[in-house]
Order: sequence, then structure tokens, then C-alpha cells
Amino acid sequence: MKLSIQPGDITTLTVDAVVNAANSQLRVGGGVDLAINRAGGPGIQAEARRIRVDQYPDGLPAGQAVATTAGDLPARWVIHTVGPVHSATEDRSDTLASCYRESLRLAASLGVASIAFPAISAGVYGWPIGDAARIAVQTSREMSDEVAATVREVIFVPFGEEAVRAYDAALAG
Ligand code: APR
Repeated sequence: MKLSIQPGDITTLTVDAVVNAANSQLRVGGGVDLAINRAGGPGIQAEARRIRVDQYPDGLPAGQAVATTAGDLPARWVIHTVGPVHSATEDRSDTLASCYRESLRLAASLGVASIAFPAISAGVYGWPIGDAARIAVQTSREMSDEVAATVREVIFVPFGEEAVRAYDAALAG
């Protein structure tokens, strides 16, 4: 399984699955969520709304993941995961790690061979980018052999110079 960095706009990548940094209501917000929904079109939100109403009436818990169509994106799926909001007093690292674990597990169950991740929680949810990148890379490296047998390529998509440096450092670690 290959880990790589591809800076830029995640909506342009031709991968099997693009991961969205969603909120628990699966309602379009800002950041990468808005970019994915703008580029992918209304079909993504229509499916996300149905999933939330049918399966998660109280909202998708942080750390969990669901899949929808990717609409007009070059990808096949959008995997929506809800990152934890960063807290200075409570260590929510394992919930952030769960976003990657659950997204990868779901991707494998869908037969996804290539997946692209933004820096979950590192925007609106305030997670320091260095630590967010470290958790992303470390958790992906710990992927089970069973998942890694299907998900052959994991691409991290840093947005901005600081994020690129953070992922370079995380991959070198
Ligand atoms: N491609 C790749 N990465 C992007 C893009 C893009 N087009 N747009 C933003 N990013 C980066 C941000 O710079 C940040 O590093 O994605 C990372 C995650 O930031 P957010 O999108 O703000 O996600 P998050 O911090 O997890 O907050 C989620 O924000 O947008 C709302 O609906 C979303 O309520 C949810 C919350």
C-alpha cells in the first residue's frame, strides 16, 4: 500500500474515493465540504441527507464514516467522515484516528483501490496541522493487511504550504 502527498484541490483528483471532512448533520458547511459539494453537484447532498434521516437521525458521530455518490467529481465515491473539534483540555486524538480507520475500512468494503484524504479537523475544527498530519499518516500506516490488500493507494491532499510541510514531515517520520 502506497502513501503519497498531492497538494491542491482534492475535488480534481481521479481516485476511487475522495474523503470529505463533514459535520455530524451531513449538511454542507464550508472548507473542503463546500468544495466537494460545489464540484460534485446536488446528488451528493441528496444522498447524504437520506443517509442522515434514515440511519443517523441524531447525526453521524465523530469518528464514523458513510459513503455517497461522488456526483460530477472524477471520483466514484465520497466518504464523509466527521472529525472531532480540537480541544485544548481533552485529548480527542483517537476520534481523529478513527476517521481514517473507519474511512479506510469502509473504502475496502466498497472495493476502493485509491483514496484521497484532506486534513480532517485541521480547518474549521481547529486541529493543529502538524498533529493532524501525524495522526493521518500514522493511522493509515497501521491499516490492517486485509484493508491494505484492497486500498492500494492513500493520497494525502494538503491545502497550503504549511500543510504540505506538515505532511512531508509526517511521511518522513
Ligand atoms: N481540497 C483539499 N483540502 C481542502 C480544500 C480542498 N478543496 N478546501 C479546504 N481544504 C482543507 C483545509 O485547508 C483544511 O486543512 O481541508 C482541511 C479541513 O478543513 P475543513 O474543511 O474546515 O474541515 P474541518 O476542520 O474538519 O471542519 C469541518 O467545517 O466545512 C465545515 O461542514 C464542515 O462543519 C464541518 C467543518
